[in-house]
Amino acid sequence: MLNVVVLYGGKSTEHEVSVHSAQTVCQILARQKDKYQIYPIFITKEGHWFLQQHCGFQTPQDKAVIPLLQADANVAARDGSWKIKADVVFPVLHGTNCEDGTMQGFLETLNVPYVGCGVLASAMGMDKEISKIMAARAGAPVLPYRVVSKFKEYNKTELEEWVVQAGLPVFVKPVRLGSSVGVRKVKKLSQLHEAVAFALQFDTDVMVEKGVDHAREIFCAIYGDEDNVKSSACGELRSLAGEFFDYEAKYITVGGCETKVPADIAEKTARKLRQDSENIFRALRGSGLARVDFLMDQEGNYYFSEINTLPGMSQTSLFPQLFEACGEDYSLILQRLIELARKRYRQKESLSLSR
Ligand SMILES: Nc1ncnc2c1ncn2[C@@H]1O[C@H](COP(=O)(O)OP(=O)(O)O)[C@@H](O)[C@H]1O
Ligand SMILES: [Mg+2]
Repeated sequence: MLNVVVLYGGKSTEHEVSVHSAQTVCQILARQKDKYQIYPIFITKEGHWFLQQHCGFQTPQDKAVIPLLQADANVAARDGSWKIKADVVFPVLHGTNCEDGTMQGFLETLNVPYVGCGVLASAMGMDKEISKIMAARAGAPVLPYRVVSKFKEYNKTELEEWVVQAGLPVFVKPVRLGSSVGVRKVKKLSQLHEAVAFALQFDTDVMVEKGVDHAREIFCAIYGDEDNVKSSACGELRSLAGEFFDYEAKYITVGGCETKVPADIAEKTARKLRQDSENIFRALRGSGLARVDFLMDQEGNYYFSEINTLPGMSQTSLFPQLFEACGEDYSLILQRLIELARKRYRQKESLSLSR
């Protein structure tokens, strides 16, 4: 029997989405009563940890707990009345402070096996410029871009000239954020600097990227590790509400998007896109899981857009749907992710710490 701590919520704009993902993960894992003892732990937006009876949003019955580094325990009640040693932590967290390597580094320090990408892959995956550089190195097509930084004077004329040469529209977005927060589509040159200033409210670095007009958004999910990386069927998400996938279309507008799995794309393109997804995952030294997102133009050319190392995992999320479309059982994937986490931990433990 393994003690599995499922972590969710978190100090992120994707706090709510994470709770929904975790509810599905807890539900599925709890079915395997002989294998797993599940401890659902909710993290508030302030970063405090609470053990819950049932995975969900905060309730008055939740017990305040703290992570700790002890030989016989790594989570304990704040009042000292209870403690456990988790055999594995399953972070079902998304976005800043959760998916970007910070939580992963914390779990490394706690010396506990955890599901999903490690510190480096998580941090690179969160950074739209670094992940793009790695994707291009792995041979995937990427869109041209420029990056401007908050505390470095940038040459406005030069940026305008680049935009004219790249062609409008361009997309302006924070380099390390998610959920379309701070993202703007710029259709006129006169809107450029305002969009940059807007995005700089959310991140110190902002990407100005050549836009794909009326882009189709194609997704491919991955699980596995170095020895055995598996890609899923491709899926497509269509924004029905606005011109692109803004925050409203993603989370607020009812029926703001439409999912199509498998995506209606040529067999050959799908095969290549899956291969690229696997290569990108390997290039980032990914392990566990990820969802790789692409933009496709009207001619059927696709470009790597971003990688999410902790993608949405609820029953209605793309991650399970994409694998179910190729006959994979979600509960087996979750089981495999736990095994991979333990395998990576054992491998790391076998390394020597002395010379
Ligand atoms: N270069 C681009 N061309 C066309 N659409 C884009 C481009 N960049 C971003 N978008 C649109 O903006 C959305 C959010 O951008 P994305 O890079 O995925 O950031 P996030 O991490 O916030 O999801 C995308 O889903 C897409 O609809
Ligand atoms: Mg996105």
